[in-house]
Amino acid sequence: MPNTKKYNYPKSLSILKFFWNAEAIRKNPIPFHRRFFDKHGDTFAFRLSRKKYLLLSRDKEVVEHILRKNHKNYYKSKLQTHFLSKYLGHGLLTVNGEYWLQQRRLIQPAFRKHKMEQLVGLMQATIEAELAQVSKERETDVFPIMNRLAFQVVAKSLFHLSATEETLERLQYIIQQVQEFLVKEVRLPHKGWWFKLSGQVKRHLELSQESRDILQEIIEERKRSQENHDDLLDMLLATRYEDTGEPMSLKQLIDEITILFVAGHETTANALSFTAWLLAKHPEVQQKVYEEASKVAQQASNPIEQIQQLEYTKAVIDESMRLYPPAWITDRENLEDDTLAGYHIRKDTLVGVSFYELHRHPDYWEAPLLFKPERFLGENKKKSAGVYYPFGAGPRLCIGLGFAIYEMVLAVSHLVQNYSLTTQEEVIKVNPLITLKPVDVTVTFKPRS
Ligand code: HEM
Repeated sequence: MPNTKKYNYPKSLSILKFFWNAEAIRKNPIPFHRRFFDKHGDTFAFRLSRKKYLLLSRDKEVVEHILRKNHKNYYKSKLQTHFLSKYLGHGLLTVNGEYWLQQRRLIQPAFRKHKMEQLVGLMQATIEAELAQVSKERETDVFPIMNRLAFQVVAKSLFHLSATEETLERLQYIIQQVQEFLVKEVRLPHKGWWFKLSGQVKRHLELSQESRDILQEIIEERKRSQENHDDLLDMLLATRYEDTGEPMSLKQLIDEITILFVAGHETTANALSFTAWLLAKHPEVQQKVYEEASKVAQQASNPIEQIQQLEYTKAVIDESMRLYPPAWITDRENLEDDTLAGYHIRKDTLVGVSFYELHRHPDYWEAPLLFKPERFLGENKKKSAGVYYPFGAGPRLCIGLGFAIYEMVLAVSHLVQNYSLTTQEEVIKVNPLITLKPVDVTVTFKPRS
C-alpha cells in the first residue's frame, strides 16, 4: 500500500484557542505550557500554516535528539538568529552552520579552564567590591544588585582596566535598553509598524551603533597600547583562524564581544537573584552554605581551590537553576525531514523545548517542586543526567559555563559569608522573556558581624 500520510505530528492544538489566549500567553506562557503538557502529553503541536508546524516539548528524548544526537540537522530558528542579530550583530549566539563552527573553534580556547583560572582573581575582586555596596538592613530588590554585579564581572573580565566606570555604565544602559526593546518587538509583532513609525526602531539601532563605537574605541586603544592585560580581550585579539592564520576582523570582534555581554550577564544575574531568594527562604540551607564557606576559607586561600571545595554551594546553585533555569526555553528548526521521538516531521518544523518544564517533570524528578540541593550531591547527581540542561548541551553548549559557575560559586559564598539573608516573599513572580527573570524579589541583607 502506498504511504499516503508521509508525516505524522503529535496532537495539534487549535490555533484559534491559541489566539483566544494570545494576550495572556504573551504575558506569561509558562502556565499555558504546563496546562497543555498535562492535557496533551510531553510533546504537542500547533499548525502554523499548511506546511509549517510548531512542536513544543518537555520530553527528554526530544531534547537529546535535537541538541546532541542529530544536532547537525537542527539550526537555531530565525527568532534566535535574524531577530537578535538585528541589534546585537552576528556573534556565536546568533549564527548557524559553518560560520558558527569557525567562530566557536576560534573562541573556545579563550574559555578553557586554565584561561578561566587566570580571570578568577579579577572576578573575585569585582564581586567583593559589588557586594560591599548592597543596602543593609532593609528590603532591597535583589535583581538590580545581581545585574550590576554580573555586568561588571563580564566587563572587567573582558577589558580589565581599559574602560572607565562611566563608559561601562553607558554600555550597560545601552545593552539593557536594546534587550528590552528586542523583547517587545518579538512579543508584539503586530505593533511592528508602530515601533517603526514612532522612531523606536531607529532610536534603538542608533543605541546599538553607539555601543559598537564604544567597543571599537576600547579595542583600538588596546591595540595601540600594546599592553598585556591577560583579560578576555587580549585572548580574543590573540586568536587566529586555523586555515588563514588571520585574526578576527574588527567587526567580528565587536559582534562577539557584544554577544558575550548579552549572553553572559543577564543569565547569571537571574540565577544569582533566584539563588539569593531561595537562600533567604530556606535558612537551614543558607546555614549550610555559610558553614561550608567558613570552613573552606580556613582551609584554602586560593580562590580556585576554594571553588573546588564548595560542593554544597555548587549544589545549591544547580538546584536553583533546576527550578528557575535562566535560559528557560530554546528552539531549533530541522534542515531535512526527520523522525523525532516517533514523529515523522517535515523539514522547517519549529521545535521548542522547555527546560523549565523538563526540570520540573514529575517522571524525571522526585518531588519536583521542592528545593533540595542534595539532588546534586554525590551519587544523587547521576539522576539528573539527560534531564537537566541549564547550559544547553551538545556542540552549542554554553561557552561560558565554566565562567558562570566560577562566578556564581564565588558570589554566593561571599554573599552568605558576609550577610544573613531574609525575605518576606513566600512566592516568587517570574517573567519569562528571552531569559527567565525574577520580578520584584526583595531580600534583606543583614551584615553577619
Ligand atoms: C547562569 C549563567 C548562564 C546560563 C544559564 C547560560 C545558558 C546558556 C544556554 C542554555 C546556552 C545554549 C542555548 C541553546 O543551545 O539554544 C548558552 C549559550 C551561550 N552562552 Fe551561556 N549561559 C550562562 C552564562 C554565560 C556566560 C557567563 C557567557 C560568556 C561570558 C555565556 C556565553 C554564551 C554564548 C556565547 C553562547 C552561545 C554558544 C554557541 O552557540 O556556540 N553564557 N548559554
